[in-house]
Amino acid sequence: MLKKEVPGFFKARREALLRAHPGAAFILPAAPEVIRNPDVHYPYRQESGFYYLSGFEEPQSWLVVAPNKNSPGTSRMILFVRHNDPEKEIWEGARYGTEGAARVFGADATYLFDDFSNKLPELLQDCERIFYRFGHSAENDRVVFGALEPFRRGLDRAGKIMPALQDPSEALGEMRLFKSAEEAALLRRACEISALAHKTAMKEVRPGMNEYEIEALIDYSFRRQGCGRVGYSSIVAGGKNATCLHYHSNNERLRDGDLLLIDAGGEYDYYTADISRTFPIGRGFSDAQATVYDLVLRAQKEALAVAKPGALLPDIHHRATEVLVDGLLSLGLLKGKTEEIIRTGEHRRFYPHGTSHWLGMDVHDVGLYRKNSEPRPLEPGMCFTIEPGLYFQSNDRDVPEKFRNIGVRIEDDILITANGCENLTIGAPKERAEIEALRS
Ligand code: GLY
Ligand code: MN
Ligand code: MN
Repeated sequence: MLKKEVPGFFKARREALLRAHPGAAFILPAAPEVIRNPDVHYPYRQESGFYYLSGFEEPQSWLVVAPNKNSPGTSRMILFVRHNDPEKEIWEGARYGTEGAARVFGADATYLFDDFSNKLPELLQDCERIFYRFGHSAENDRVVFGALEPFRRGLDRAGKIMPALQDPSEALGEMRLFKSAEEAALLRRACEISALAHKTAMKEVRPGMNEYEIEALIDYSFRRQGCGRVGYSSIVAGGKNATCLHYHSNNERLRDGDLLLIDAGGEYDYYTADISRTFPIGRGFSDAQATVYDLVLRAQKEALAVAKPGALLPDIHHRATEVLVDGLLSLGLLKGKTEEIIRTGEHRRFYPHGTSHWLGMDVHDVGLYRKNSEPRPLEPGMCFTIEPGLYFQSNDRDVPEKFRNIGVRIEDDILITANGCENLTIGAPKERAEIEALRS
C-alpha cells in the first residue's frame, strides 16, 4: 500500500549529511530489480542508503541530494521516479509518479526516471563535490558518466572545473554507523521479534522434522510479529551442517542426538536482527555437546563483558578467542601456549570467523572498522554482533570422534550506550539450563 505520510527524520538526515559535507551533491541509484525467470522477480528491497535518506521504496529511481543555494545550510531532494502507468499498475500495484513522490516524500523536485541524464547537469551546477558510488554497477556508471560529460563541457565554457567525484561510502557509512534513538528503537523491535522466534523454534523442534519446516516456522513467527522479511537467508543447520558456516540448503531431516544451529534475523522496517542459537534436536545435550556449548557460551559472555564505550572490536574478538583457545587447550584439542596459538592462527581450524560486525539496515552494516589505520573505539549508538563459535569437521582425524560434526555458534546483538551496552537479543535463551527446560 502506498504511504501517505513519511516521518520527518528522512529530511533531518539529508540536512545532517550536507552539514557534514557542505557544497556536496549525493547521487544514489535505487536497488536494481532482479529477474529470477520470465515474469518472476526476486523480492524487491530498496537499497539501504537510498531508503535511509528518502523513505522512497520504488525501483527504477534516482535520488539526488544537493545544496539549496537559495537557503544556505539546507538541502534539496530531487527524485527521479517511474511514471504513472495505469496499465502496469493494474498488474504490479500503484506507483507514486512524479506528483505523488513530491507530495508524500517532500521532494523539492521530481522528474521521470528517463529524464535523469538530461536533468543531472543543471542539478549539479553549483556543487563543489559529487558523491557517487562508481564501479558498483556498469549500467549506472554509464548513465552518470554520460551525464557528466555535457556537464563538464558547460563548465569549461563558464571557466570552471569539474567538481571532484568521491565515493559516498564513508560519508553515508559514518552517519549510519551511529544509530539515532528512532533507529535504536527499530533495531530493538527487530531483535525482540527475532529472539521470540528463536525461542519458539526451541520449543517446537522435533526429531524427524525437516530443516525447512523450522525455517518456515521462524519466518512465520517473524512475519506475524511485524517483520515483513528476513535480513538475510536463514541458516537452519542440523548436526554436521552446522560446521558449514554459510549453510543455506536447509533441506535435511533433523536427527535425535544432533544439535541444531539456527542463525536467523527478521527485518523490521529496514532494520535487521542477527541471532544465532544452538540447541539439541532431542531432549538434551550429550556430554561432548555440552562441553563445546559451555565453552562457546563462556567465550560469548566474556567477550560481551568487554563491550562498552572506548573498547575496540579487536579487544572483543581477542577475549572470545582467548577463552576458546584456553578451553581447547584444556580439552587437548590444541597444544601450546594461548598467545602463540592466537598469533599463528592455529585456532582458526575450529574458530575460522571473526567475532563481530556492524549491524543495522544491512546485516553486515556499513561504517569503517578502522580510522587512521587504527581500530576505532566503540561509541554510544554503535550496534554490532558478538558471535563466537566452534566447529569440528567430520574429516578431522585429530579430533576425538565424539566432537566431530559439532558446530556451535551463539550470537547476540549489542548496542553501545553511554555507560556500557544493551544486549538487544537477551530474549533468546542461551543458558544451557534454560534451553534444556524448553526442550524437555
Ligand atoms: N548471519 C550472518 C552473520 O552472522 O554474520
Ligand atoms: Mn552475524
Ligand atoms: Mn548471524
